[in-house]
Amino acid sequence: MGAFVLFVCLLVPFLLVCAVCGRRKAGPSAAADACGGGGLQLPPGSMGWPYVGETFQLYSSKNPNVFFNMKRNKYGPIFKTHILGCPCVMVSSPEAARFVLVTQAHLFKPTFPASKERMLGPQAIFFQEGDYHAHLRRLVSRAFSPEAIRASVPAIEAIALRSLRSWDGQFINTFQEMKTYTLNVALLSIFGEEEMCYIEELKQCYLTLEKGYNSMPVNLPGTLFHKAMKARKRLGAIVAHIISARRERQRGSDLLGSFMDDREALTDAQIADNVIGVIFAARDTTASVLTWMVKFLGDHPAVLKSVTEEQLEIAKEKEATGEPLSWADTRRMRVTSRVIQETLRVASILSFTFREAVEDVEYQGEP
Ligand code: HEM
Repeated sequence: MGAFVLFVCLLVPFLLVCAVCGRRKAGPSAAADACGGGGLQLPPGSMGWPYVGETFQLYSSKNPNVFFNMKRNKYGPIFKTHILGCPCVMVSSPEAARFVLVTQAHLFKPTFPASKERMLGPQAIFFQEGDYHAHLRRLVSRAFSPEAIRASVPAIEAIALRSLRSWDGQFINTFQEMKTYTLNVALLSIFGEEEMCYIEELKQCYLTLEKGYNSMPVNLPGTLFHKAMKARKRLGAIVAHIISARRERQRGSDLLGSFMDDREALTDAQIADNVIGVIFAARDTTASVLTWMVKFLGDHPAVLKSVTEEQLEIAKEKEATGEPLSWADTRRMRVTSRVIQETLRVASILSFTFREAVEDVEYQGEP
């Protein structure tokens, strides 16, 4: 078998993994060998049409989970397909996902379909390994450590209160509103409070990028993909402006400050790719957790009552002193914290992710 790319998918409530034949290393002929002609046994499934594979079926199903479920019902939890330019194997059992992500993780490397990599930025953390990856991990972790985020609690509270006020008396779509909230918190965590003049344009560009992220990767004027790529370019330019303004003054403890740290400085392009990457990683995931929390609290009135009492007690104290919420207050939210932990445990947040095999891989005696 040539090199295989693997998509790892968390499909509610299953973990789905896909392996793609030879997009990067092996080239089309080796991929074709691996996907049929080379005498290797791949799992059941269909490779669809030449080059496009089953990409149209994926897009026409609107929601990727519908496509994955349909295939899963037909072929079982492990099946081959060809989507987004990659011949692949998808895996949706917890055992196979553990094999790929934990026990045999050394046989795989991170990857994304090329169109998505171009959109997020090729130097973003998701596509890296080795020293550069470890370096980025350190810079991101530092910016989200308790010490770094402690002072942001009042500003995050202000964003939450603004959202709550805007919902008053309205019928809202919880996930959409949580996405607005998490985008605002993400931008605050990345750029701090001083770059507000750029924030609206950043948001607009990011929303255009997001609309095109799952579109068919056809870069022709008028397509969602083309608009997204233009927005991506503009985002890079805005981040470059902010970086040069930042160089004139003291660095903050936000993510941009961490990326710009003198001793460990990244290039402007590396910073832009990773800023966009972190918004991408942080936003929908957190919005999804918050939405699931609202649902679970609705399902469990007794827990909702305990959380409400805990929150009201702190709110009353704050009202009496006139002080904003502090880091120390968040440490006292024991019931709320447990609800967050339980939501993370129970809900399936990330539908799927991708891996590429670095060598031939056999799973349960099959290649
Ligand atoms: C609570 C909601 C979140 C969930 C469920 C979640 C889940 C995940 C998962 C499963 C991965 C691994 C993906 C893979 O290996 O293919 C990942 C990676 C990542 N997440 Fe999150 N995430 C969440 C929130 C955040 C936030 C708030 C940030 C902001 C810093 C963030 C930053 C990242 C980064 C930078 C990576 C790449 C790590 C690496 O390649 O080493 N995530 N996340």
